[in-house]
Parts: sequence; C-alpha cells; structure tokens
Amino acid sequence: MLLKKGLSVFLLAALVAAQPANAQENKAILNADAGKYVINKNIYGHFAEHLGNCIYNGFYVGDTNKVIPNTDGVRNDIIAALKKLKVGNLRWPGGCFADTYHWKDGVGPKAKRPSMVNVWWGGVTEDNSFGTHDFLNMCEKIGAEPYLAGNVGSGTVQELSDWVQYVNSPANTSPMSTWRVQNGRKDPWNVSIWGVGNEAWGCGGNMKPEFYANLFRQYSTYMTGWSEKKLFRVASGANGGDYNWTEVLMRDIPASLMEGIALHHYTVIKWEQKGPARDFTEQQYFGSMRSALQMEELVTRHSTIMDKYDPAKRVALVVDEWGGWYDVEPGTNPGFLYQQNTIRDAMIAGVTLNIFNNHADRVRMANLAQAVNVLQSVILTNKEKMILTPTYHVMEMYNVHQDATLLPLQLTTTNYTLGNDKLPAVSGSASKNAAGVTNISLVNIDPNKPQTITIDLRGGNFKTLTGRILTSKKVQDYNSFDEPNKIQPVEFKGAKLNGSSLEVTLPPCSVVVLAVK
Ligand code: AHR
Repeated sequence: MLLKKGLSVFLLAALVAAQPANAQENKAILNADAGKYVINKNIYGHFAEHLGNCIYNGFYVGDTNKVIPNTDGVRNDIIAALKKLKVGNLRWPGGCFADTYHWKDGVGPKAKRPSMVNVWWGGVTEDNSFGTHDFLNMCEKIGAEPYLAGNVGSGTVQELSDWVQYVNSPANTSPMSTWRVQNGRKDPWNVSIWGVGNEAWGCGGNMKPEFYANLFRQYSTYMTGWSEKKLFRVASGANGGDYNWTEVLMRDIPASLMEGIALHHYTVIKWEQKGPARDFTEQQYFGSMRSALQMEELVTRHSTIMDKYDPAKRVALVVDEWGGWYDVEPGTNPGFLYQQNTIRDAMIAGVTLNIFNNHADRVRMANLAQAVNVLQSVILTNKEKMILTPTYHVMEMYNVHQDATLLPLQLTTTNYTLGNDKLPAVSGSASKNAAGVTNISLVNIDPNKPQTITIDLRGGNFKTLTGRILTSKKVQDYNSFDEPNKIQPVEFKGAKLNGSSLEVTLPPCSVVVLAVK
C-alpha cells in the first residue's frame, strides 16, 4: 500500500456494464447442479503482523501474565474465537515487517534474544519474544494453517532456506532440526505456505518486477525438500492495478518454482484523505463501497493475464492483504493503524468474500488485514477485554462456504445511487457443501433502501430454508467495549421458499446467509 492506489474509472464502467443500466428489480438464477470449482478454505485467511497491538498486547500477552488467561502467552479468548471462526490460514510475521525480520533472533531462550527496531511501525523496540515456535504452536491451537512470509528485502537465500529446514525437517536429520529439538520442539510443523518477500515493489525493497522475478527464482530454488508436504511458494504480487507486475512474474518465473502469486488491494477512499473509521459521511461510505467493489475488476484482470501463461490454472491468485483502511482512532499512535470496525466493514467483508468465492477457480487464498487491533480486525482487545467486530461475524457466517462447491449465481441488481453516482446494490455467491446443503450469501450495500430479490432455484428440489442476518440501524454502528454485542448475527425471517422460487428482502446495509436443502 505504501504507494498510492487510485480508483479506476474502468471498474465502474465494468461493474455497471455487467448490470442492466436501470434494472427495475433484483433477480437471480442459481444452477444448483452446475458446480465445478471448490471454494478453497484458504480464501478465509487472516494476517498477523508485528505491528501496533496485533501481536504484543493483542494475541500475545506474555507467558508470565497472570491477569489475562493464556496458554504459553497467547490469550485463551482469542484462541477460542479464532477456532470458532475457522481460520483457513494465518500469515505472519508481516507485511513490511517480514522483510526486516531475522527469524533466528526469535528462537531459543527468550532472555537471550536480541532486540531490534520495528522501523516500519512506530519505531518501537521488538524484543523477539514472540517467534517461530510461538506462532506455529499458536496456529496448531487455533486450527489454522500457517503462512510464513520470508525476508527477501534484507535477508539472504541461506536464511530463508534454513527457516524451511528448521520448521520442516524431521527431528535430528539436519543441523536446523537438531537446533529446533534443542529449542523444545521434536516434531516438524510441516509448513506448506511460504511467502517469498512482501510488497517487493515498495517496503520489500523497491524493486522492479524483472529484478524481483530473478530473485524469486533464486530464493525459491533453495526452498524445496525437507518435508513430504509440498511447498506452496507465493511470489510478492502486484500493488492493486499494476498489471505489468503480474505479466512479468508470470512470464519470467517457471511454473515449477511458483505455486501462488499475490495481490494487495485495500479499501481506501483516498490515501491522502482516508476519513474516519466511525463517524463517516454517506459520501465517504459510498467511496469505500466503490473501492471495495474494485476487487472484482482487479481479480478479473490479473486472472486474465495469468490465464495467458497458465491456462490450466496451476498458479493461484493469493490476495494476501485486503480490507478497509481509515485514519487511526484519535489519540492512538499513527504507526499502529488501530481503527474501529462498523457495519461499513461488514459490507466490505461481505462483498469481497462474494467476489473471492465467485472467482474460486483462480483465487485460492486470501488474507484479511489484520486479525487483531490493526486495520479491519475481526478482534479488538483492551487489557483483559476482547470484542468481536461486525467483520468477525461476517467471516463466521460465510465459513459455510469453506471447501464447498461454488454454484454459479447469475445476479441482476438495481443500483445504490448517491447523486449521479451508482453502484450495484446487491451482491451474492452460493455453494453446496458435502452434506448437500446449498448456502447463499447476499449483501445489500444500500444504506437507505431494503432490496427484495427473487432467486430462481434450478437443478434441485428444495424443501427447507433457514437463515441468519447481520445488520444494525446505522451503517456507522459498531461493537464497543461497553456494548460488545450490539451487532451480532440473528435468525433471519425475511425469506420465503415457494417451490423453486426463493424471495428474500434484505434490509438496508445487511449481510444474509441462507441455507436451503
Ligand atoms: O497491513 C499493513 C501493511 O500494508 C503491510 O505491512 C504492508 O504489506 C502493506 O503495505
């Protein structure tokens, strides 16, 4: 993000062109027997960087903490909440931090670990007390697949190759695994997902794509072996609409060395004027929705380039940083990126996850930035208190799509208009799980009007219907430490199943997930 990401006029044209200009009604056709692609659970991934109060004072309160219940220093309430969320994968230690991080400083006796300065995020001292063992053991407790981001910007090929050996080689079969055993862990963690640098075009080294592509080839060559689990190596990807970046990487890196290519896109109105996280105007809300919906264009256009070089879709598009980014909460450290989370964020999560689901053929991993106390968090903490944000609830409602078969949903929607501007009001996606249940997630971003949609269910014989909804009176509403459950999902009664016709009335600014069988 450290470069500016402009809004594209193309996006609006594309979005609006996909809809009849002045659709009078919302309608959809769901072909319940036409599924082809599986929605990878890793689309429902999260991100934990050494940034502000995400790791320290967030996940990790220290293993000598007697006030906040914890296991080896990690908060028990966070472990339980993330377990329930079904976190596909968790990315660590950055972000920009990753390209300054030297993993060997974060293993072994904590008292002997060297300190460093966290140059990207507030210039605070990093004492390396939360390191590789802490993170990987925490992932085991949460049930999330770890995603380790390696240091390319200021690290070495040897250092990254040693990290793979340290976490993946069987006990006492290599110098690194012997060291791991000495440090208290016998069995390897068998980490599959590895990032090779982060934002190489910016904080990861300000590289040109041709230079980074060569570096990637070199690093990736030495990252093989050690475990029976195949490595999934993710190249640092484009900044939003930098299509040349994807083109060069796809052209210059052989498929045998790269399993994924990243993309970063944040929902930002203007980088120089992001606006408040809570008391925003409708104009600002509209700007956020426009930026969030831009994901459709980005994913489509990056995928088209990937299709040219990789028609078999072997390489995944990994959107490993996405989410809303606003001004920090007044009075907080500007380098800590702490912001509240409102119904606007629930809308961003709902429409973005629908886009990812609908592109399941190519988008097979994504990471919301970030899990705790940073940007669009699912969890906020304040000393011993912890709250779940509206975004948490959307991610939890949508987890029914994980590893289910995507069902094509042909959607025609009316517009949400503000002045002369318009955006599609309703978005959706659908999938069928192993138990034969079809789940449909729908979002109405219009803050002023309910939207009724009729869905023609084809290719199935549906008899039962249940649903949940997340909404609130105002789009600026949020959960606070004083009112932690103001916004939470409740039973939805606004849908009727009549034979093969499903009629749903979505209140303003609502996310609904329906299950039909
Ligand atoms: O998520 C915050 C920062 O945004 C990350 O460290 C970086 O990769 C991006 O610019």
